[in-house]
Amino acid sequence: MNRCEIDPARGGLRGEVTIPGDKSVSHRAVIFSSLAEGSSYVRNFLCGEDNYRTVEAFRRMGVPIEEKGDNLLRIQGRGLDGLKEPEDVLDCGNSGTTIRLLSGLLAGQPFFSVLTGDQYLRKRPMKRVVKPLSEMGARIWGRSQGDLPPLAIHGGRLRPISYDSPIASAQVKSALLLAGLYCDGVTTVREPCLSRDHTERMLPFFGADLHPVAGGVALTGRPRLHGCEVTVPGDISSAAFFMVAALIVPHSELLIRNVGVNPTRDGIIEALRRMGGDLELVDERLAAGEPVADILVRGSRLKGIEIGGSLIPRMIDEIPVFTVAAALAEGTSVVRDAQELRVKETDRIASMTSELTKLGGEVEARPDGMVITGRERLQGGKVLSHGDHRIAMSMAVAGLRALSPVEVEDIACTATSFPGFWVLLGRLAGFEGH
Ligand code: S3P
Repeated sequence: MNRCEIDPARGGLRGEVTIPGDKSVSHRAVIFSSLAEGSSYVRNFLCGEDNYRTVEAFRRMGVPIEEKGDNLLRIQGRGLDGLKEPEDVLDCGNSGTTIRLLSGLLAGQPFFSVLTGDQYLRKRPMKRVVKPLSEMGARIWGRSQGDLPPLAIHGGRLRPISYDSPIASAQVKSALLLAGLYCDGVTTVREPCLSRDHTERMLPFFGADLHPVAGGVALTGRPRLHGCEVTVPGDISSAAFFMVAALIVPHSELLIRNVGVNPTRDGIIEALRRMGGDLELVDERLAAGEPVADILVRGSRLKGIEIGGSLIPRMIDEIPVFTVAAALAEGTSVVRDAQELRVKETDRIASMTSELTKLGGEVEARPDGMVITGRERLQGGKVLSHGDHRIAMSMAVAGLRALSPVEVEDIACTATSFPGFWVLLGRLAGFEGH
């Protein structure tokens, strides 16, 4: 069944949960391992549909990738020049990270490839990577003057560039760094504020030479990469649904184990704390260069806040669930500078505005964000995911504080980033997840 009914939570969410591995880190671990010489092991790999798209793409380019069970992958890397031309179109499904990072990588390959995706991905802008990659010398074609997938790429010799990205985007930054691996010389990428830095943290483990420059990062091309062991931290973007769930349901006390708290990703913790949320980081540690902690969350009275500026890229994927917290907080919250939400898996400003409104939320959409006036409880009703995993999960969390059941329709999309979400939430909140 492609829907789930959420009953209002009767008591607090209590106990412990462990969140699956980080989606962004899992993609990068597969990509860099495939380009390394020798075997790599990826532990706590996220077995979500998006990440399998990346795995499948590399298998089609001749990289043996074995699933050893228990979220462990063994990847026999082919070296920087060991990929083979794929025989068919590479289908990136719903995954923006797969299509954009692979565009950068394929731009440096001496062969022809075509990348496509599902109906949502084929509407997402690619010019942001196509333009700088073309400046590096790649030949890339796509619908709508090269902006929309499918993308056809004739890779080859590239020249390094120094690029000032107009947007803070880890996908753009990482695509250019991947292309930069194939250049003689130094590729530099600057961004208006820092986006997630998993690529910069992980590539040096494999042997690449990266160093920070003012406002960005520089990479020396043609390194020799060697196999590694990567342990993927739990995904803070997935943990965020449980943070908000525990905060909005009174008497909750929930320990979320093994969450990546990289400072370029932890904006949701900062925002929820500013709202008055009781979130405590326990046992902070490092795993494969990424900061990790357990997060203890207690039910809290939240108040409205304003978010904008450099906080936005640090919590971009968590803004849908932030709006749920805001809809149940005292006073008004404002989201500014978040126009990037309009070009995610769906237009998340439009999707969250329409779905929260169906539950009696008071939300006004703006070109670059939303104004949300909070209330004590939401109403029950039927809501849609719009085919967007984070909208589906955000609305499920909202259902915990509605006065009557909330039916979320079209929930299969949650498998892209969080298989097991419904069962986990159902177990904690006492409804039947499936
Ligand atoms: C991602 C970067 C972010 C994020 C996406 C994953 C990544 O996108 O929204 O879910 O893994 O690099 P942008 O780089 O487009 O901001």
